[in-house]
Amino acid sequence: MAEFRLPKNSRVHKGGTVHKAEGASNVKKFKVYRYNPDSGQNPHFDTFEIDTDKCGPMVLDALIKMKSEQDSTLTFRRSCREGICGSCSMNMNGKNGLACTTAIEDLKGDIQITPLPHMEVIKDLVPDFTHFYAQYASIEPWLKTKSTTPSGKERLQSPEEREKLDGLYECILCACCSTSCPSYWWNSDKFLGPAILLQAYRWLADSRDEYTGERLDDLEDPFRLYRCHTIMNCANACPKGLSPARAIAEIKKLEAERQV
Ligand code: SF4
Ligand code: SF4
Ligand code: FES
Repeated sequence: MAEFRLPKNSRVHKGGTVHKAEGASNVKKFKVYRYNPDSGQNPHFDTFEIDTDKCGPMVLDALIKMKSEQDSTLTFRRSCREGICGSCSMNMNGKNGLACTTAIEDLKGDIQITPLPHMEVIKDLVPDFTHFYAQYASIEPWLKTKSTTPSGKERLQSPEEREKLDGLYECILCACCSTSCPSYWWNSDKFLGPAILLQAYRWLADSRDEYTGERLDDLEDPFRLYRCHTIMNCANACPKGLSPARAIAEIKKLEAERQV
């Protein structure tokens, strides 16, 4: 499990509102991180009691219930509700994950919810992804070619070549891995982190891409790639069961092979 870390702009203060679930028999308590930079209030936890008999099974269902029935100012991201968009990534009881695919009953005791660790917070559970997306853009995440497309048609791949993208293309850029990586916490200004490196390898592994050398040149840097120390938190954190650490090892192997 990733070490529990609060967001960057955070020093949590005591206090906070308690929202009761009057008359409910099956109550689950959620302690939810609240921070609104415009309010002048310090970061704190609010407590929400949820009647689980009248709530869907997932943490996202509970958050939607809190917002609809108890405090409409509670702010979080979500979209697909089925683990596809990556919007609802957050930290639940000390572990990063997707609120929409994390079952309430799998979390023991009171449930503490904070934004992804070590990120700047825009409001409540919404971290600022600006830097993360800029790093993603920096690896040029699209197919790059030098040759003209054969006979004006699409570029083909054999089933074996296509298979090499399995375990890579499924990444939903939720950042659960990067924000559980100690190297990324301390060096995110220069280290690309596991999510972006997995994406970088997705294009290196694509048989149709013709910029492998340039892509490897761009990554060969003491910080961008080599700040990964194989701590493996990233693989444990990924809600899609992917292994960024393995992808990073493959990039390091490609870098080493071309030195020979
Ligand atoms: S394996 Fe590398 S990228 Fe993954 S958590 Fe460890 S240091 Fe970070
Ligand atoms: S590798 Fe997994 S944890 Fe990391 S961004 Fe992609 S889906 Fe999320
Ligand atoms: S709402 Fe899309 S992944 Fe959770």
